[in-house]
Amino acid sequence: MTTKEYVLSLLEGSRGRSVSGKQIAESLSISRSAVWKAVKELQKEGYKIEAATNKGYSLSSDSDILSAQGMLPYLLSPAMYDKIFVHDILESTNKTAKEMAVFGAEHGTAVIAGSQSAGRGRFNRSFFSESDAGIYMSLVLRPSEVKLSSPTLVTVFAAVAVCEAIEAVSDLRPSIKWVNDIFLNGRKIAGILSEAVTDFESGSVQWIVVGIGINFAVPETDFPDDIKGIAGSLFAEGGAPVGRNRLCAEIINRITGGEICDESELIGKYRDRLFMLGREITVIQGGEAYSATAVDINSSGRLVVKKPDGEIVTLSSGEISVRVK
Ligand code: BTN
Repeated sequence: MTTKEYVLSLLEGSRGRSVSGKQIAESLSISRSAVWKAVKELQKEGYKIEAATNKGYSLSSDSDILSAQGMLPYLLSPAMYDKIFVHDILESTNKTAKEMAVFGAEHGTAVIAGSQSAGRGRFNRSFFSESDAGIYMSLVLRPSEVKLSSPTLVTVFAAVAVCEAIEAVSDLRPSIKWVNDIFLNGRKIAGILSEAVTDFESGSVQWIVVGIGINFAVPETDFPDDIKGIAGSLFAEGGAPVGRNRLCAEIINRITGGEICDESELIGKYRDRLFMLGREITVIQGGEAYSATAVDINSSGRLVVKKPDGEIVTLSSGEISVRVK
């Protein structure tokens, strides 16, 4: 890490509070003028850093530029830092993460962008991600490290992790719409697209890319007409209690940082957040739609529904989408 990156990581760790130049210089074993030079460079890059005599430097709490250094103070282990790649803009973080996986990226590699020019959702739909007020992140996971018995459970696991990360940084309680949508106050605020690549010969999954898109503080007026009234934002513009770096780190910690809890515990946590159980839904499969009642989620993350004639059907996420009435 360069001096500038170290300084940034220290300031991010005490966002909104002043740290003296002396303190920074001592903790990095550099001169105070080197600290000052690094601060000047960061200010030039757009970081809102205030310098006050006798107080030191403080990174404004509304400064919200995505960076690996900004995530570092909140990561479970500093080793995770080396696997975080932040870009201003990418076509799609999933696309880049898949390319990196093919070239041997390690488990836990995180590709993050401030915006995407061709963000994708399930069913190859486009995912609105032009704004720099969102989080667009893809995590490369190796199947040997993710001990889950069914591919659907990876999305289930990621959805719970995103909700818990949001709860860790705010007093909000997001809910889930099967299988991959995160909701708050009746609006979709985040979506997850998990993609697995299997070896042609053996049929085994070689790697999994979990793509997460969050409308962090997107102004209502920025959403395109086709998703206005459906999409929402986690926080109101200017109303976020934390920066995007902190939320990114909380998600990375939960998805790549440790043991996945027991599968039945995971399903329990997911079920508790599913707001659609017991409600009437429309199931859309291959261009056809029918009404049913959402009954439960089974042990592999599939949705169990009851048709009006009493028939019980278990839905697999791959080719089915549901609408809650
Ligand atoms: C959905 O709602 O259907 C899933 C949306 C997933 C969007 C994320 S944003 C980061 C990653 N890159 C993409 O192109 N898609 C995922």
